[in-house]
Amino acid sequence: MAPSREPGQTSGSQAQAQEQTQATPVGQTLAGTHHNTLFDAPRSSWSGKWAFILAAAASAVGLGNMWRFPYLAAKYGGGTFLLTYAVLVFTFGVSLLLLETALGRRTGQSAIGAFKAFGKKYAFIGVLASAIPFIITPYYCIIGGWVTKYAASYLTQGAGALADGGAFFGGFITGPIESYLWMGLFMLVTFVIVGLGVEGGIEKANLVMMPALIVMAIGIALFTLMQPGAAEGALYYLTPDFSKLSPELFIGALGQMFFSLSLAMGIMITYGSYLDKKESLTQSVVRVAGFDFGVSFLAGLVIVPAAFFALGSGQAVAAKSGPSLMFITLPQLFDTMGEAAAVVGFVFFLLVFFAALTSAISLTETCVSIVADKTGWSRKRSMATVIAVVGAAGILVNAGYNGLSFIEPLGAGSSLLDLFDFVSNSVMMPLAALLTCIFVGWIIKPKVLVEEVRQSSPFKAEKVWVVLVKYVAPLLVIVILIAYVAQQFGLLSV
Ligand code: PHE
Repeated sequence: MAPSREPGQTSGSQAQAQEQTQATPVGQTLAGTHHNTLFDAPRSSWSGKWAFILAAAASAVGLGNMWRFPYLAAKYGGGTFLLTYAVLVFTFGVSLLLLETALGRRTGQSAIGAFKAFGKKYAFIGVLASAIPFIITPYYCIIGGWVTKYAASYLTQGAGALADGGAFFGGFITGPIESYLWMGLFMLVTFVIVGLGVEGGIEKANLVMMPALIVMAIGIALFTLMQPGAAEGALYYLTPDFSKLSPELFIGALGQMFFSLSLAMGIMITYGSYLDKKESLTQSVVRVAGFDFGVSFLAGLVIVPAAFFALGSGQAVAAKSGPSLMFITLPQLFDTMGEAAAVVGFVFFLLVFFAALTSAISLTETCVSIVADKTGWSRKRSMATVIAVVGAAGILVNAGYNGLSFIEPLGAGSSLLDLFDFVSNSVMMPLAALLTCIFVGWIIKPKVLVEEVRQSSPFKAEKVWVVLVKYVAPLLVIVILIAYVAQQFGLLSV
């Protein structure tokens, strides 16, 4: 599933990279610097297209799908948001996924090396993208800890204890010790799996967790849909109402798409660099996007009708956005399910736990490979460094809810976690995406990547793709960037 790494074995992509060395100047710059990022053996390649798709999907499907997407869908008019999001994912999202994987496969490098391959002065784009996982991982693990605590509590305390209108959640995150322990536990599981290596840890974990996740998501969706009152909520979720289209809805959908597809932080470049030259890029990225969209759709199908039922209207659901929707409103709904309540609650949070864990693994792996790449250190030493940095940052951000809660970096009621989230998702990711599009569209020219795509499959949408990358994408990204910053200063509500 994952990169094969028998010592001495030349992987498909490596052989191709060598062929290219003779063919193009870019290949030549690569030949000397071509070194391994993740493994101690020669550069690896995925065992096949499906290995790549599963790993990319495991990275994409996470808290963004399970927690953020449903709340946005509820807030922005249900079906209207769903439809807008779908259109964006399968045009803009797929185009950017294709761009990043093609860039990775073309250069055979992870983010920094991939940009540097076209000239030293472009390396900063890779550096910017590579900094993002270091900011996201700590706070992602904090929310991962909350989810772990909830899954465990449904087992040990039953559904009633969690459905007390927010006291359970509030007491937990503001307490002095417990939230640190759950964050630590979540980090420990993540680090152990990453420590076991790509084949022994990550690949096996994905292989178990991803199918389990799909089965649980479908099961829970069916179950909640059979609850009384769910049909009305489902209708709200599935029926578009074009009078609800608004700039805010559009911008919200766009930002969500970046985060959910794990775009603009070098991950897809690295994953593309392990992909064999004979595997179709176009088909693979459409499948990754389809998988990610499918899970978001299911999560919405569980949470939107559930919240609708509990709160009575889309407006009320929207007002309960943020952490409270998953950690306060949903447990209240589960509690009404009688005998099944604890089981449903447990399975739901286990499902979210799996989604969060596979994403945290991919984030951590990216951090490790960046450190190893940059310093030339062994995987062990790089890993120890990442553990120290992520652990320390996690403690600091978590303190934002208790010991350091007087720090309100983005205005009253905001936390350090909000700041980390804002800086990475709303500022750095759009900026990295903008620079990447300008780099490909105007500096190296889309043709370079079009050729890369054509190595493995026909590229029917080539013309549309080029227009998207050169003009549409940069414009849209500028819009998100300005909108998000404006929102922070209270000029717009997104
Ligand atoms: N895409 C993940 C989610 O939706 C988050 C993530 C971002 C994971 C970047 C890895 C890298 O939750």
